[in-house]
Amino acid sequence: MTETILVAVAWPYANAEIHVGNITGSHLPGDIFARYNRLKGNRVLMITGTDSHGTPVTMSADKLGKPVEEVYKSFHEGFIELFQQIGITYDLYTTTHSDNHFKVSQAMFLALQKNGFLYREFSKQWYSPSASKFLPDRYVEGTCYICGYESARSDQCDRCGNVLEPEKLINPRATTGDGALELRDTEHFYLDLSKLEPKVKEFLQSRSEHMRDTVLGESLRKIESEGLKARSITRDLDWGIPVPVDEPQWKTKVLYVWFEAVIGYLSAPIEWAQLSDQKEAWRDWWINPAAKQFHFIGKDNIFFHTSQWPAELMGAGSAFMEFFAGEQNAPLILPFDVPANQFMNLEGQKISGSRNWAVWGRDALTRYDPDAIRYYLTANMPEAKDSDWDWAEFVARNNNELVATWGNLANRVLSFCYKHWEGVVPNVDVNTLRPADLELLATIEAGFNTVGAELDAVRLRSALGETMKLATAVNQYLDTNAPWSAVKTDKDGAAKTIYTALKAIDSLKVMFAPFIPFTSERLHGFFGYETPLFGEQYTE
Ligand code: MF3
Ligand code: ZN
Repeated sequence: MTETILVAVAWPYANAEIHVGNITGSHLPGDIFARYNRLKGNRVLMITGTDSHGTPVTMSADKLGKPVEEVYKSFHEGFIELFQQIGITYDLYTTTHSDNHFKVSQAMFLALQKNGFLYREFSKQWYSPSASKFLPDRYVEGTCYICGYESARSDQCDRCGNVLEPEKLINPRATTGDGALELRDTEHFYLDLSKLEPKVKEFLQSRSEHMRDTVLGESLRKIESEGLKARSITRDLDWGIPVPVDEPQWKTKVLYVWFEAVIGYLSAPIEWAQLSDQKEAWRDWWINPAAKQFHFIGKDNIFFHTSQWPAELMGAGSAFMEFFAGEQNAPLILPFDVPANQFMNLEGQKISGSRNWAVWGRDALTRYDPDAIRYYLTANMPEAKDSDWDWAEFVARNNNELVATWGNLANRVLSFCYKHWEGVVPNVDVNTLRPADLELLATIEAGFNTVGAELDAVRLRSALGETMKLATAVNQYLDTNAPWSAVKTDKDGAAKTIYTALKAIDSLKVMFAPFIPFTSERLHGFFGYETPLFGEQYTE
């Protein structure tokens, strides 16, 4: 049965280049999963875009001394270039700074407001008298009131991972150096997550069969211990999405970046459909209860994807479609799975852009083939626990596994066939194949199920490992049957061996394709196929 699958990847902030930790954390697993499902004939839509708002982006613009508009665009273009080079095949890669995203986010806000899940309240926020403005989120740092970390940002602590209430920060200071801070009253909208807590729990429990324990367990434990509390969803900033309320005090405020960026999972499919010739096609991924949505994210984003985003969707209910399309009774569906990854470190230390301790994607691609990077990042993907990028291991695993076991296998067999059978597959009557030949082909055939089951469950590391084991089985078969010497004494037997090995390699090429698409596509061409493994993608 054809499945309809949304591959939704975390939106990268337009404040830094993308490094290998980001790639293996979300973009690459999303791409492998999307490619696998496309090969399987499923209907896949893979989307994300640049998270262009919020203090991460405005602060980075301040640092560069450039207008924020220019800064987000330049990162955005760099991201697109990287994804093209490393083969991350988004059907649409967009930005949160688009008219469509503004409109969809505002409709979501109005739907939540209509259903009674928003309220307004004055609270004390950090204000800089010398700069005459409120300093939200990353503009203020201080000591985390939960774990005691001294360099916590006012909205999130990088050590304990908790989302913080800014006014509770201990010893706050302005990261811009804007003098002493004081708490002043300011009005904001709040999303009343507490009202939605029972529904969020129910949602999570309904996913308990397939969600990773690192995701489900953590989310449920957090709700059990702290409960879901109301969270402010507006900010005193001038860069972002206007609050859709026609009163003067809201003119200087915008929607909070974490409230609206997640809405991109809905606005991007809508934009994709508008750009295609089926304007309403996005509904297949959003209003269709049979569609499955997968969120590929890093562990620091778990709360927003397992609690806040489902809460926004459940709170908006059918009212979103009423505001957006004037339609009744069309509720949006909820995420199916959130296969969040842990982190990848670099040579034993946490990757850090500010300390320039990172392997940047675009830089690595100036020296290494995309498939070599993809292979190592998959073999080492931090699915269950943090992993490590180690340069010596990168070289060793590529040489000893990807090249030795798979590359050489394909190269040896194809060139041998080319030489001794004039570039065509030996003409073998399949009824004359020997038990060992049939056994190898059966092993490979069964591999489609084994590898497929791992991929379906989003265990990508193990799927790649299983595929590599099958390549090893072909090597062993060749060692035993030694066509290189048999060709001199028993050309007919050697032909059977080469025929069998070619058939195995042709299948393995498909299994390897989601992981190492560039070389798989080339190999596919060497076999003489005229249409590519991966058909045309819709891009804009
Ligand atoms: N920009 C955020 C980050 O880089 C991720 C946003 S995911 C979204 O951590 F869903 F909110 F968009
Ligand atoms: Zn903390």
